[in-house]
Order: sequence, then C-alpha cells, then structure tokens
Amino acid sequence: MAKSPLIQFRPVELPKTGTLVVFAGDNMALGEAARRVDGATDGLITSAAKAQGYKGKRFATMLLPLPRGMDVSALLVVGLGDLTKMKEADWTRLGGAVMGALPNGPQTDVTVFAETADGPLGAYQAADLALGLTLRAYSFDLYKSKKDDDDSAARTIAIALPDPHPAEIRWNAVQAIGEGVYLARDLTNEPPNVLGPVEFADRAAALRDLGVEVTIMEPEELARLEMRALLGVAQGSVRPARVAVMEWKGGPAEVKPVAFVGKGVVFDTGGISIKPAAGMEDMKGDMAGAAAVVGTMHALAARKAKVNAIGVIGLVENMPDGNAQRPGDIVKSKSGQTIEIINTDAEGRLVLADLLTYTIGTYSPRVVIDLATLTGAIIVALGHHHAGLYSDDDTVAAQLSDAGKATGDLVWRMPLSKDYDQLIDSKVADMKNTGGRWGGSITAAQFLRRFASDSTWVHLDVAGTAMGSPSTEISRTFASGFGVRLLERFVADFYEDGADAIPRGPAA
Ligand code: BES
Ligand code: MN
Ligand code: ZN
Repeated sequence: MAKSPLIQFRPVELPKTGTLVVFAGDNMALGEAARRVDGATDGLITSAAKAQGYKGKRFATMLLPLPRGMDVSALLVVGLGDLTKMKEADWTRLGGAVMGALPNGPQTDVTVFAETADGPLGAYQAADLALGLTLRAYSFDLYKSKKDDDDSAARTIAIALPDPHPAEIRWNAVQAIGEGVYLARDLTNEPPNVLGPVEFADRAAALRDLGVEVTIMEPEELARLEMRALLGVAQGSVRPARVAVMEWKGGPAEVKPVAFVGKGVVFDTGGISIKPAAGMEDMKGDMAGAAAVVGTMHALAARKAKVNAIGVIGLVENMPDGNAQRPGDIVKSKSGQTIEIINTDAEGRLVLADLLTYTIGTYSPRVVIDLATLTGAIIVALGHHHAGLYSDDDTVAAQLSDAGKATGDLVWRMPLSKDYDQLIDSKVADMKNTGGRWGGSITAAQFLRRFASDSTWVHLDVAGTAMGSPSTEISRTFASGFGVRLLERFVADFYEDGADAIPRGPAA
C-alpha cells in the first residue's frame, strides 16, 4: 500500500521544530493556544493577517516562515470560515487543506493545534482531521523512477489537544478507514497490465491477514455455478475470470449480513463494440467498484466492526478477440433469465447480474449494495460530485444519503420505473443489455433490478466519482477511493451493534 504519514496525538505544548499549524475562524477568531502563539510572536498572526488581507476564510492558508520569538521553522494559519457553517465532512477536508499547504523541506515534522475559537476539537473531529491529512498525502508514484520531492507521506504529524486520549482511540478506527481508501485507490490506480483478474483476486485474498474469510473462484467453478453472463464478458480475454468472496463475521452468527457487490472489469476496451482510442487508458479504472468493496471490507475488518459483511467482486477483462462475445449473442444468466447482447460495451451489468443472483441466493443479505463504474451517462447527469443511487427502498436510500453527507462521498437518488424498465425488453430474449440512447444510467439500473429479486437492493453508479477524479482537498490522483468512507459509515450508523463510547459532537 502507498505510504502514509505518521499521525500522533499529544498534549498542547509549543513545539521546538518543524511547522506549527493553527486555525483561524472568520475575521481571525483564534483559539486559546493560537492566541498564545500570537502573543509569543509579538502579534505576528494578527498583524500578518492584517497586512495580507487574510481573514481566515474556509481552507484559505497563510504561511509565515521563521516566526520570531519561536523555535519552529514556520507557522501555517489555516482558515475555518464561519464555524456555525462547518459541516461534519468539512473536518476531513480541513485536514486535506492543511496537508496541501505545508511547506516542503528538511523540517518534515508538523504540529497541529486542534482547536477553534470555541475550544478544542472533539475526538471525532480531530480523528477526521487526521484522516484528511492522511488522504491528502496519498500519492501513486510506484512506477516513477524519480519520485516527486513532495514528502507528504514521510511526515510525522502531531495533533495537539488538551486531552489527546479520546481522539487517539477514535483514530484507531478512523485509521482503518484511511487504509481502506488507500487500498481502493491503489487498486484503481494500478495499470491494467499489472492488475489483471488473477492479480486483483490475490490482493483481495490478502484480507485474510485481517481475519476476513476469502474464497477465490476460478472459471471452472464459475461455470459450475452457471455464471454464464459473467463468463461471456471474460471470454475474449486471455486472462481468466475470477470471483472473490470476502466474509467478515464481526456480528452475531444469526444476524444476516450486509452485502457489497463490485464491478471489477480490470480493463474495458468495449469488446467487439470497441471504444474509441481517445481516453481508453482510463478504462483501467473500470474495477473501481470492486476496489471500493475490497477497501470497505478492509476498513470494517481492520477496525473489527461488529457487523456481518460480505463482499463479492467479479473480476474480468473485456477484450475483442476471435473468441469474444458478439452483438446478437444470447446468454442465459445464472438466474435463468436470457439476455440479448446488443452492445458488448455494456458489460458491467452482465457481470453484476450473475453476482447479484449468487449473493442473494447464497446469503439472503439484509441489504445488497452494488457499486459499479457502470455508465458514461451518469457522468452526463451528475458530473463528478455525486454517485447515482438507485433503489426501491426509501429507508436504505435515505441511510446512504445521510452517510454520504456525513463523509463527503455524496450520492444522488435517481428514478426507477416500469416505463424505463420496458426499454430493455427484447424481441428474442427476456431482455437486452442496452436500452437505447436516452437515460442510459437508468436503463442500466433497471437491468440490474431484474436480478435483485425481492431483496433490499441498491445500485450505486460510481463512474463519475470513483475514477478520473477531479482534484479536491483530500484526493489528488486518478482514483478517489469513493465508496469506502460511504459504506463504512453506512454500516457504522445503521447496521452495527453496540453504541460508541465517544460522542460524535465537539469536546465537552
Ligand atoms: N465502463 C463503462 C462506463 C464508463 C464510462 C465508466 C466512462 C467510466 C467512465 C461501461 O462499461 C460502458 O462502456 N458503458 C456504456 C454503456 C452503453 C454501451 C450502453 C456507456 O456508458 O457508454
Ligand atoms: Mn463498457
Ligand atoms: Zn465497463
């Protein structure tokens, strides 16, 4: 996994080396420790702010090198803006803003005074801050002979609080989430020659180290399970398909699991319905749904979540070949329903169809959520800032929407209806795998819905959010790791037993 910075929690003390970070609210409202720093430096923070017109706007930064009266090499002031408008997800973004503004140099150690004008950050806020620092420090330079001189991940960062202990305990859990996001990003960023179905399955199998039971199924087994729709996608590739099943048993044995199903197309050429050349390299990320499932399972296991969770991922490569699937082919899915292939580039739904049948049939999950970089159409509809959410279940849809707002992994509900469903009726089979030009993300969801039987099912189209990601405070590479924080939070808030000892609010 990519290297991450070392985070520590410490009592508040003026540091002697490195960079000291303090926060400023609107109009330079400072906390107690920041005011002490201002005093020790003969009012440097307030006078520099005045001279530079710096007002403590949210995430705006002001770097003050070699502050006189202190031993540190730099002071970094980071704005909080209007504190009353600071939302839960903003603490993680704040950590990202801090990491992004830290000076590079030999002095890599950092101290952050974790307070606002209202007092010290709560344990959850401080741990979220640490998560943001960690997520921003992520880079993917495995294949660069000369590494960038940005040393973000090499840093040691001390988060200073009057009582660091609760934050440290909370960090133990949040750190697991950070690792899950790193893992999802690493998998999604890996080039497709390195990460084929077999190699991806090996990475999923490594979750065994955390106590996850992992089963890897090979083509013979998949054929025996009648996953013909999934195998049809894989048949044009020289690299054989794999399905990985991950089971985390952290809850009582009699409680049904929550299940996560991921599209893991390690590379999507489109197959015989081949894609245009421009930008095709991005299709290495067509396994980001599966990566989010693996990352989520890592997070849950690493923090020993009191939940039963299943992750099922379908790993295939969609290639044109003499043996590839053709438009016009009719395949019989594991469910028994037949599918007319109209476009071999609508392959993700074929993989997910069999996985949904398998997962629901094997585990009768309380809820099954699939994640997939399924359609370009969802990017047209929602851009890069919300994943499309489809479900018939208002309760689970609302739970995911809440988890999205709390973490910043945002989702937006899209419609399902009989009218859309009819668009995938076929003249020669039970259904076809595309629904025509319009509403392409919706007809893809309608297709999946036909394989969800009576279970509580959610589909997340993450094509716009998990790969080809725009830069944010906490995400700078091709892969964002979208879905890991969303699903971890969904589990923590709605499916996990045992209330937390530490309250989520600010410090008492
Ligand atoms: N993997 C693509 C969807 C995609 C597009 C993901 C852009 C990320 C960025 C998917 O398999 C696909 O090719 N979908 C087609 C469906 C069409 C053939 C009905 C699409 O969106 O064009
Ligand atoms: Mn495709
Ligand atoms: Zn695809």
